[in-house]
Amino acid sequence: MPLLEFDDVHVTYRSREGDVPAVRGVSLAVEAGESVGIAGESGCGKTTVTSSVLRLLPPTAKVTGQVLLDGEDVMKMSFGRLRAVRWGKAAVIFQGAMHALNPVQRIGQQLAEPILLHEKQVSERTANNRVGELLEQVGLPASRARTYPHQLSGGQKQRIMIAMALACRPKLLVADEPTTALDVMVQAQVLDVLSELVRELGLAMVFISHDLSVLSTTCDRIAVMYAGRIVEQGPAADVFDTPLHPYSAALASAFPRIGDPRFRYAPAGLAGDPPFPSDLPTGCSFHPRCPVVMDECRVVDPPTVRVGARSAACLRVTGAEDVA
Ligand SMILES: Nc1ncnc2c1ncn2[C@@H]1O[C@H](COP(=O)(O)OP(=O)(O)O)[C@@H](O)[C@H]1O
Ligand SMILES: [Mg+2]
Repeated sequence: MPLLEFDDVHVTYRSREGDVPAVRGVSLAVEAGESVGIAGESGCGKTTVTSSVLRLLPPTAKVTGQVLLDGEDVMKMSFGRLRAVRWGKAAVIFQGAMHALNPVQRIGQQLAEPILLHEKQVSERTANNRVGELLEQVGLPASRARTYPHQLSGGQKQRIMIAMALACRPKLLVADEPTTALDVMVQAQVLDVLSELVRELGLAMVFISHDLSVLSTTCDRIAVMYAGRIVEQGPAADVFDTPLHPYSAALASAFPRIGDPRFRYAPAGLAGDPPFPSDLPTGCSFHPRCPVVMDECRVVDPPTVRVGARSAACLRVTGAEDVA
């Protein structure tokens, strides 16, 4: 049984201007100890789909399909059960979460809070010891517990967020663009800390990024999202090195790396933006931007087909028809 399973998940935001179908039928499984990356440009539905894991969506969001955590239907959990599962079974590091640290409370207190809240039997002293260990795990001296957020750099603050996510020893870590707000050197350091911890502790991880090259080094598998759907998924190296879907190909070549023969020429890039969920193109939702578009792509919404260990939704890709 997978640790986390999305089964045909749809999320629609209700708004005054009408319904916004932000996620349209996502199916994805994450095994215990496995790292799965979700890639895609801004607006593709990555945050929406991952917020459903712990039911952290706004009340205007309507969810159908199933999200199973350790086989348990998240949408059917009582609030008490949900509270226990948050932090304890799965923890989320949000995009830009480091800005949410309380400016007037010491780091140590903020780290101890989830522990004391979730493990009632733990004494304050034990919690404080664990805070010290957590800080050291993310590469900071235990003495940082006495500091306030403003005394820390962006990278240090993001390490604190990782430590907080680990505080209640979850089995699954969901990291939504955890390094996007940081500069490149610090990004690499924080990523190293994160991937090392995930490996060391045997955690499962859902890692969201628009950078396919980062995902290819951090994750076992990658799912590429476009306009609320997974358009390709498979082993990380395969998706990055030999993408099947033209959108994955565009993402893979968007981040040139020195010495990589694919980037002898200038990176191709991709003109335009993803569509608004409330105003999707006919046929394949990627067709207006697709460099290899065919006439039928304008009318036929491609089914997801299985190709070996991978799957893709593109009329140019042939394989066994999939149910997903
Ligand atoms: N609370 C909301 N109400 C209405 N629309 C929303 C809300 N949150 C996100 N959206 C829309 O849903 C789509 C997907 O957003 P999001 O999941 O944040 O994508 P990503 O994380 O890939 O950038 C976007 O078009 C966004 O504008
Ligand atoms: Mg997002």
